[in-house]
Amino acid sequence: MTPVAATSAPPRDRISARVGALTPSATLAVDARAKALRAAGRSVIGFGAGEPDFPTPRFVVEAAAAACAEPENHRYTPAAGLPELRAAVAGRRGSWVEGSDVLITNGGKQAVYQALATVVDPGDEVLVPAPFWTTYPEAVRLAGGIPVPVPASADDGYLPTPDSLEAARTGRTRALLWCSPSNPTGAVAPEPLVEAIGRWASDSGLWVIADEIYEHLVYDDTRHVSMPDVVPALRDTCIVVNGVAKTYAMTGWRVGWLHGPRDVVAAATRLQSHLSSNVNNVAQRAAVAALTGPGDGLRDMLTAFDRRRHVACEALNSIEGVHCPTPRGAFYVFASVHGILGRDLCGRRIDTSADLAEALLDHAEVAVVPGEAFGAPGHLRLSYALGDDQLHEGLGRIRDLLSTGS
Ligand SMILES: Cc1ncc(COP(=O)(O)O)c(C=O)c1O
Repeated sequence: MTPVAATSAPPRDRISARVGALTPSATLAVDARAKALRAAGRSVIGFGAGEPDFPTPRFVVEAAAAACAEPENHRYTPAAGLPELRAAVAGRRGSWVEGSDVLITNGGKQAVYQALATVVDPGDEVLVPAPFWTTYPEAVRLAGGIPVPVPASADDGYLPTPDSLEAARTGRTRALLWCSPSNPTGAVAPEPLVEAIGRWASDSGLWVIADEIYEHLVYDDTRHVSMPDVVPALRDTCIVVNGVAKTYAMTGWRVGWLHGPRDVVAAATRLQSHLSSNVNNVAQRAAVAALTGPGDGLRDMLTAFDRRRHVACEALNSIEGVHCPTPRGAFYVFASVHGILGRDLCGRRIDTSADLAEALLDHAEVAVVPGEAFGAPGHLRLSYALGDDQLHEGLGRIRDLLSTGS
């Protein structure tokens, strides 16, 4: 029998268009490259990681150990999270948030994605102030939306204004992604700006996804201001994202949350019930302990971060061609390196911050993340969440390479 010729459907990529279009997380990639070089025996100093170098507080670890022994934690629990944890999250907000308004997620990252997936339809535009956290545009695209960067420079304190946001708004704009304190810049929006942007968003009928994961990491007399606290009119169109990762040195535990209007939380919970169900119960019990326990660990971290923040800024600003504003929050410095671009370094021309980051890794064994990853070419992000000795050594290497070119 003659075989029937296959119909000639056009060949398809093996990977779906949606997932194939994703770029790997640049920050995780830098960290992975630094670890691989270290494993190969090179003495790489990593400024790439977005995680505290402190251990999770002991009382949190002990709560988790106790939770391991409890059979109730060995079973499925409600997809929205343990009632005790949802109540603990709500208890840290005003009386306008109840436990039933909270969804516990696998880290803040999943909360960002689920928030977007819950309110964004294909073709909707989402305003993303730049420099932005590298995950935001990808999460917007995964949800079917179109990320629209709204740039701000060091001269603007790396912060958008109602005017810059309004200039980017179109009939398709659906949401604003708001992050203060900011990753990557460490900028913290002052209350008048938070209020003005919240009012603008509310008047414009936009959703706001407010990422507050660095809320407790602020320095000097800086205060974090939550947008729906100062603009109550926004509470029905605002989804707040947060988690234990940064505040309690718990990045590996994977516990975050979102809270918002009840219909949105219910819809996001339905999504999670098909995606990942409940977050690991032991990690949730650890998060309850973190949220309800003493804050000494956070105070110790803040003291160390504050000291290192000044050390990093001073060292970077002493290098010709580098300008590094002092950040007021998070644990990153974001330095402009425009003054270095166009130079030769170790026999190679440095045209972009990506070139510079590569040269720093190759010739100084220092891993930093180039601004390209954050929608802000011409910059480098350095996390100062690393030990003091490593910090000094790494900054010294950067200064030596950039000052002498060797
Ligand atoms: C701005 C911002 N939001 C959210 C997250 C997510 O944190 P996690 O998923 O570890 O809770 C991060 C982590 O780097 C972040 O920098």
